[in-house]
Amino acid sequence: MNLQGKTILVVGGATGIGQATALLCAERGAAVIVADFNEAEGKATAEAAGGTFLPVDVTDEASVKALCANIARSHSKLDALVQTAGILKGAYVNLEDFELATLRQVLDVNTIGSFLCAKYAKPLLQKGDKPAIILISSPAAYGVSSSYAYAVSKGGVSALGTTMAGKLAPEGIRVNVLFPGGINTFMKRSVIEEDAVRKGQDPQAAVEAAQSSGLGEPMGVAKVLAFLVSDEADYVRGSVNTR
Ligand code: NAI
Repeated sequence: MNLQGKTILVVGGATGIGQATALLCAERGAAVIVADFNEAEGKATAEAAGGTFLPVDVTDEASVKALCANIARSHSKLDALVQTAGILKGAYVNLEDFELATLRQVLDVNTIGSFLCAKYAKPLLQKGDKPAIILISSPAAYGVSSSYAYAVSKGGVSALGTTMAGKLAPEGIRVNVLFPGGINTFMKRSVIEEDAVRKGQDPQAAVEAAQSSGLGEPMGVAKVLAFLVSDEADYVRGSVNTR
């Protein structure tokens, strides 16, 4: 599908699902802005997409505000925000040992980060054409998680997205929440490695086993995201699951 004329902000676009999404949206004709706190890989992705890189730390309100002010100057509008920035910490830690600081750190990136990006991107999206916001939750939100913090954070992302979907629809902004399955990215491989080490197994072998037994690829999710930001997804509402 054609994304010609669209300006799309991919937050967390340096690596993984965000990177694949930035590249695919660019291939389909969109002007892509990659925002991330990983400057080296963020710049490389933006360059490969023929787009723009802007630094951001989604946990820092001033940084998100500055990102959107920058976009207002350079692009004047946004047609879509895809918020993929996320972290997973505290995998396999028991409740009684779980550090509050870890919970706060994960909530700050995944949940507060999603809130801040949506909040400050909204005025730019209001100037866009059939604008869309896509947040990334996870089946972790349903209780299928290695980490208490990750589960809580993704439950928050789902609640934020579905609440925005209702509240922003009358303003013409479509909001979807995407639930990817296990996808072959840095984040997922790290958790598989941690689990293997915990069980005294070879981490590399564990990653290879997961890859050959159905771990999805970031580009598979990117294809769904590229559809969701397109005008063809105008009638898609609420939550969407992927492999
Ligand atoms: P990834 O680790 O490759 O990508 C995460 C990106 O977020 C990185 O580019 C990283 O630099 C950026 N980021 C992290 N903290 C940031 C901050 N404070 N400010 C700005 N950028 C920041 O991992 P992946 O898998 O591509 O993750 C993308 C999203 O998909 C995340 O929200 C993750 O929770 C979600 N997800 C991933 C699944 C998987 O199996 N890989 C499954 C379900 C959801």
